[in-house]
Amino acid sequence: MQKILVVDNHPLILEFLAKLLAGEDCQVKTAKNGLEALDVLSQYHPDIIFIDLIMPNIDGQTLCRIIRRKPQFKKTYLVILSAIAVETKVDFISFGADACIAKGPFAKMKKHILDVLSEANVISSKKRSGNVRGIEDLYAREITSELLSIKRHFEVVLKSITEGIMEITDNNRIIFANPAAISLCGISEEELLASDFRELFNGGDRRRIGILLERLKDHSSSLNEGVEAVINDRELEIRVSPVNNGKKGAIVVFIDITERNYWHAHLRQREKMESVGTLAAGMAHDFNNLLMGIKGNTSLLLMEMTSDHPHYKRLRSIEKQVASSASLIKQLLGYARQGRDEVIFMNLNRLIGETSEVMARTRRDITIHMELAADLRNIEADVGQIEQVLLNLLINAGDAMPQGGDLFLKTANVSNLEIQSKVFKVKANAYIMLIVTDTGIGMDKKTRERIFEPFFTTKEMGRGTGLGLASAYGIIKGHGGYIEVESEQGKGTSFRIYLPAK
Ligand SMILES: Nc1ncnc2c1ncn2[C@@H]1O[C@H](COP(=O)(O)OP(=O)(O)OP(=O)(O)O)[C@@H](O)[C@H]1O
Ligand SMILES: [Mg+2]
Repeated sequence: MQKILVVDNHPLILEFLAKLLAGEDCQVKTAKNGLEALDVLSQYHPDIIFIDLIMPNIDGQTLCRIIRRKPQFKKTYLVILSAIAVETKVDFISFGADACIAKGPFAKMKKHILDVLSEANVISSKKRSGNVRGIEDLYAREITSELLSIKRHFEVVLKSITEGIMEITDNNRIIFANPAAISLCGISEEELLASDFRELFNGGDRRRIGILLERLKDHSSSLNEGVEAVINDRELEIRVSPVNNGKKGAIVVFIDITERNYWHAHLRQREKMESVGTLAAGMAHDFNNLLMGIKGNTSLLLMEMTSDHPHYKRLRSIEKQVASSASLIKQLLGYARQGRDEVIFMNLNRLIGETSEVMARTRRDITIHMELAADLRNIEADVGQIEQVLLNLLINAGDAMPQGGDLFLKTANVSNLEIQSKVFKVKANAYIMLIVTDTGIGMDKKTRERIFEPFFTTKEMGRGTGLGLASAYGIIKGHGGYIEVESEQGKGTSFRIYLPAK
């Protein structure tokens, strides 16, 4: 006994086929649309499936493709029922169907259906023909051709839209997805259709989308309300609006806002850094003047006394503290000044050699690996400031590797084209690049986002002031360059600096 499924949205066709096939001693089940068919197929394993071509939600062509992808239906005989076979060419072989019958007078259709029924058993050995059965005495209808051309037009529009668009049913199953939506989700159309929309999302996003859909159903949500969520590593804005045709489904629009968010965050960060910079500059100057006053007066007092004076030691210690305060101020000025004092042509490789030697001597548990470009171009820079940047990076790397580790120092010439996509405005034609990589504790996202802020530190009181990277940032910017960081918790950190080559 052959098992059959008939899928058609037209009740008359369903009834006709069901009766006809039952009379041929077949077991028959029916479904009114593609989605219903897939539900039936999850428990029923027919030998032949008759599929209407044009149906609401998942259409016949798509349904065929979905069924063909499922290994358990590889041998199932798929028969398309087409009401538009005369008006348009139905290339049913291309979407996986075995035969196609034109919808016409029942008496004619009956013959072809019975033919198919007997052929289905032996067809595997026969070559399939692309001919549509029952087309001979049908004639083309103008109105059908026109409607088909309108349908195609809308399909082209939906296909061309860069926003992702989906339609979902009232129980959240996906019945339509345009190419943009499919590519944003990174899942094939066949897998996407009929699946639960909410399952595209994880954790908190899924909950929020679920709530939004519920609100849409009881009309407490305004039209086109949006939420932000992540699919396939992209940040998306998701807008949901009800379908206004008596059904209870929804239309979902996906807008990729990954870039937009990135630029907003970057802009906010830059504005923040600039305003803090102005503040720091003012304070640093005032403090510097005060310090110079203290330093001058201490020196005068010291000049007037010998080392056996009871206040001599105290004054010396004041002098020392003033010196370390001055170096702090220097860091802060480095961040705030964004200018260069004594500019000379220099080669960064030499400075790296000298600075890393200090590190090598003081931290024998750290292995330094150098890969310095022999032909590295010169830069025009303030040696003292660049040295300060290098020292700050090396000290931080050392702090991140309390048990020792590896430190990689790499330099290279890069052209403006290679760094085109970076966030800073590429002005010069040629840059040099320095990469400082450690194998230390690394940083989480929250830390990474704040490291260039002045006074941001994760180190205990008295160990860090949080000015090292802020000053490095200011100095590099003042040199027309750019500094960026890549880091992952537990895996290490890599700082990249670009400076215009001369
Ligand atoms: N190589 C690194 N690995 C891991 N975390 C780092 C690294 N470099 C910087 N950080 C993080 O960035 C923070 C800020 O660094 P920054 O150099 O500005 O200040 P600091 O080192 O804390 O203090 P100081 O003013 O003494 O330099 C550090 O506290 C640390 O959390
Ligand atoms: Mg530091």
